[in-house]
This record gives sequence, C-alpha cells and structure tokens, in this order.
Amino acid sequence: MSSQLRVAALLVVLLFLLERSSAQLNATFYSISCPNVSSIVRGVIQQALQSDARNGASLIRLHFHDCFVNGCDGSILLDNSGSIQSEKDAAPNANSTRGFDVVDDIKTALENSCPGVVSCADILALAAEASVSLAGGPSWNVLLGRRDSTTANQAGANTSIPSPFENLTEITAKFSAVGLDTTDLVALSGAHTFGRAQCRTFSSRLYNFSGSGNPDPTLNSSYLATLQQTCPQNGSSTTLANLDPTTPDTFDNNYFSNLENNQGLLLSDQELLSTSGAATISIVNNFSANQTAFFQSFAQSMINMGNISPLTGSSGQIRSDCKKVNGG
Ligand code: HEM
Ligand SMILES: *[C@@H]1O[C@H](CO)[C@@H](O)[C@H](O)[C@H]1NC(C)=O
Ligand SMILES: *[C@@H]1O[C@H](CO)[C@@H](O)[C@H](O)[C@H]1NC(C)=O
Ligand SMILES: *[C@@H]1O[C@H](CO)[C@@H](O)[C@H](O)[C@H]1NC(C)=O
Ligand SMILES: *[C@@H]1O[C@H](CO)[C@@H](O)[C@H](O)[C@H]1NC(C)=O
Ligand SMILES: *[C@@H]1O[C@H](CO)[C@@H](O)[C@H](O)[C@H]1NC(C)=O
Ligand SMILES: *[C@@H]1O[C@H](CO)[C@@H](O)[C@H](O)[C@H]1NC(C)=O
Ligand SMILES: *[C@@H]1O[C@H](CO)[C@@H](O)[C@H](O)[C@H]1NC(C)=O
Ligand SMILES: *[C@@H]1O[C@H](CO)[C@@H](O)[C@H](O)[C@H]1NC(C)=O
Ligand SMILES: *[C@@H]1O[C@H](CO)[C@@H](O)[C@H](O)[C@H]1NC(C)=O
Ligand SMILES: *[C@@H]1O[C@H](CO)[C@@H](O)[C@H](O)[C@H]1NC(C)=O
Repeated sequence: MSSQLRVAALLVVLLFLLERSSAQLNATFYSISCPNVSSIVRGVIQQALQSDARNGASLIRLHFHDCFVNGCDGSILLDNSGSIQSEKDAAPNANSTRGFDVVDDIKTALENSCPGVVSCADILALAAEASVSLAGGPSWNVLLGRRDSTTANQAGANTSIPSPFENLTEITAKFSAVGLDTTDLVALSGAHTFGRAQCRTFSSRLYNFSGSGNPDPTLNSSYLATLQQTCPQNGSSTTLANLDPTTPDTFDNNYFSNLENNQGLLLSDQELLSTSGAATISIVNNFSANQTAFFQSFAQSMINMGNISPLTGSSGQIRSDCKKVNGG
C-alpha cells in the first residue's frame, strides 16, 4: 500500500470513529422503521393507568434511575442472571421501583408492530413523556436512538442515585456528576408532583429528627399530624403516602407551592426551599408562581437527563426482551 493510500485509509477510519462517538439522539430516529412508536407506547400506558393511576409516576422514575447509572441504556431493566447482578436489587430500587410489567407490555406491543427495532432504553424515555402528558403535564419531542446495555451496574445504582436522606450539597453533587445543574435538579424534582412514597423514606422526620427528640421543625404542623397518622411509630414501613398531598395524580406545579407551605414529603424535597441561602430557593419560587415556566424547564431538563451517555450507533444492542440480554 502506498503511504498516500495508508493516510487516506486512516482518515476514513478516523472519520468513522468520530461519527460514531458523536452520534446524537434525534426525534425522528424511528420515523421510517417504526413510525407509530409514540402512539403505541401511549396506548399501552393509557390502559395501565386505568388499572392503577400510579403507573405513570412509576414509569418516569424508572427512566431517572436508568439514566443516573451508566447512562440511559436500559440497564435497570435487566433481571439477575449468570452475568448480571440486577440493579433492581440495589438499595434505591429494591422493593421500591415498579412498572416493569408495563414496560414489558409496551415491548410486546412494539415487537408486534416493528420487531427488533425499538430499544428498551428508548421505551423508558418515551414512557416518561407519555406519563407526564397523560397526567396533565407538558409534552415534548423525545430524542431517540439509544441502544440497550449488555451489562448492569448494581454498585453504581447503590452510589449514584440520590437518597432522600442526603443534604442538598450531596444531591447537587450527584446531579452534577451526570452533567445536570441546579435548574435541572429543581425542575426534575417537580416530578414528585405525582406518585407515592413509603413511610420508611420520610418517617425519620416525624418523631425524632436527627436525634433531637422532636419532629423536623420545617414540617407544617397539620401536615405532620396527618403523616403521623399514616405512619405511626412501629407501624409498617411500607405504607404509602402521596408525594403531592394536594393533587396526587396530576402533573402540575403544586409540588412547589407545597414546599412553600412546608409540605414537602421527603427531606430532599423540602431542602430545595428550606436550605438557607441555597441557589434552589428562587427557582422553586419561580416554578410555584409560574406553571408555564416549570413546564418549559421540566421538558428541557427531561431532554438533558435523557441525553446522559446513551449507547448509539453499533454499541450495545436492541434487546428483544427488556429483562434479558439477547441470547443470554
Ligand atoms: C432529587 C433527588 C431525588 C430523590 C432523593 C428522590 C427520592 C425518591 C423516593 C425516596 C421516592 C419514594 C420511593 C419509595 O418509597 O418506594 C421517590 C419516588 C418518586 N420519584 Fe423521586 N427522587 C429524586 C428525584 C426524582 C426525579 C429526578 C424524578 C423524575 C424525573 C423522580 C420521580 C419520582 C416519582 C414519579 C416517584 C413516585 C414513584 C411511584 O409512585 O412509583 N424523582 N423518589
Ligand atoms: C437521527 O440519527 C440517526 C442515527 O444517528 C441518523 O441516521 C439520522 O439521519 C438522524 N436523523 C436526523 C434527522 O438527523
Ligand atoms: C398508531 O397507533 C394508534 C394507537 O395504537 C392507532 O390508533 C393508529 O391507527 C395507528 N396508526 C398507524 C398508522 O398504524
Ligand atoms: C424487600 O421485601 C422483602 C419482602 O417483604 C424482604 O424480604 C426484603 O428483605 C426486602 N428487601 C429490601 C432490600 O428491603
Ligand atoms: C447494593 O446495595 C444492596 C442493598 O443495600 C446490597 O445488598 C448489595 O450488596 C449492594 N451491591 C453492591 C454491588 O454493592
Ligand atoms: C452534607 O452532608 C455531608 C455528608 O454527610 C457533610 O459532610 C456536609 O457537611 C453536609 N453539608 C451541609 C451543608 O449540611
Ligand atoms: C432520639 O434519638 C436519640 C439518638 O438516637 C436518642 O438518644 C433519644 O433518646 C431519642 N429521643 C426520643 C424521645 O426517643
Ligand atoms: C414502639 O416499640 C418500642 C419497642 O418495641 C416500644 O418501646 C414503644 O413504646 C413503641 N412505641 C409506640 C408509640 O407504640
Ligand atoms: C401549613 O399548610 C397549610 C395548608 O394546608 C397552609 O395554609 C399553612 O400556611 C401552612 N403553614 C406553614 C407554616 O407553612
Ligand atoms: C412565566 O414563564 C414563562 C416562560 O418562562 C414566561 O414567558 C412568562 O413571561 C412568565 N410569566 C410571568 C407572569 O412571569
Ligand atoms: C423563571 O423560569 C423561566 C424558565 O426557566 C425563566 O425563563 C425565567 O427567567 C425565570 N424567571 C425568574 C424571575 O427567575
């Protein structure tokens, strides 16, 4: 081979690598291969909401817990197997994440219409948007083209997903670690405008907060009394409370007015407004006063979160069963 030819061959390889590494998600990825993908996803979710209004909340949370661990690659959906230590058994997910049966129903419907085409990671992104808009929240153009991982990262799920017991500094650091900023943190926390939380995720605030012998002083006293009834001392740690006591299944900006009324359910919720001097305070007040501003920011932040390190091009695979690696 002449040296000129070799240089040319090298250039072609370099260009190919460059294109692959910079492959971007886009909204039209399935426009030819599965043009009806959004309405199929939406249809299955509409059905699932009829049997349980909580399902939409559970689905958007899966996308969040997927994206924060090795990027949005469907890793959270893999079950235990010889080579897989499932993320479902990680501390933030065990006995907590749900909606996996709905994901499987969506996958089945898509495999019937467009076999082998739509990734499980993209299903989570599409399901998140459909769940929000069906609950009265904003719509946005979901960026697509993610592929599915062949591995899971249980240790990463234990350490990378924010905990409700952490302070604002720690939670901000976990968002920052995946490229999300303070506005993303406040906007995305607004997803706690629907869905439920178990007593064990907030009961440390109700009786003996930080060893003080008293409840968390930031808790609204009438809300505190209600929560103490829902979660009595020595009661079941798995009893559920609405994350938004005002409109439990509607996607609106009441989450932020709740914080202003000291009715944030999780410590990590109330901290956004009650941490003195925090940059999050003015953003909470903005979203509380202006639902349009919240919806716009939320849609943008969902796109930002959905862009966390996707597998694209020929990396990963399109799983035919979201619970298993192909051929595994
Ligand atoms: C900011 C840090 C966050 C923390 C500490 C946090 C923590 C939690 C906790 C402890 C629960 C209750 C789980 C249970 O009791 O089983 C929960 C539920 C939920 N979270 Fe978050 N979360 C955070 C951010 C987010 C984000 C970014 C989203 C989505 C964009 C989200 C969406 C949800 C939803 C919708 C539920 C209700 C799920 C259901 O009812 O099944 N959260 N979260
Ligand atoms: C969307 O992304 C895919 C894969 O990167 C690419 O083939 C396609 O041309 C892109 N579409 C647009 C409109 O950019
Ligand atoms: C797309 O799916 C929806 C809901 O399942 C259905 O009503 C519609 O007829 C489908 N459209 C096409 C072009 O297949
Ligand atoms: C989940 O619940 C099961 C049954 O209630 C229990 O045996 C298991 O220890 C729980 N796991 C975690 C991590 O809490
Ligand atoms: C993750 O946390 C769970 C629950 O605390 C624990 O059982 C598991 O061993 C941890 N996994 C790894 C890989 O650290
Ligand atoms: C947040 O928690 C970390 C770890 O427990 C601690 O080092 C830090 O001082 C706390 N920050 C604030 C502002 O309370
Ligand atoms: C509250 O917790 C602290 C530390 O765990 C403990 O020393 C104290 O006795 C508890 N107070 C009450 C009233 O239970
Ligand atoms: C909770 O259980 C502990 C130990 O079993 C007991 O000492 C305490 O009185 C109980 N508290 C309530 C409110 O029932
Ligand atoms: C407590 O919540 C109620 C609404 O339930 C509200 O009217 C009141 O202002 C709140 N109190 C404080 C101190 O935030
Ligand atoms: C609410 O937010 C939207 C979007 O950012 C903005 O265009 C509008 O002017 C705001 N409205 C008020 C009353 O501030
Ligand atoms: C409120 O949020 C919107 C949307 O993020 C932003 O455009 C606007 O500048 C904010 N307004 C204030 C007063 O912070």
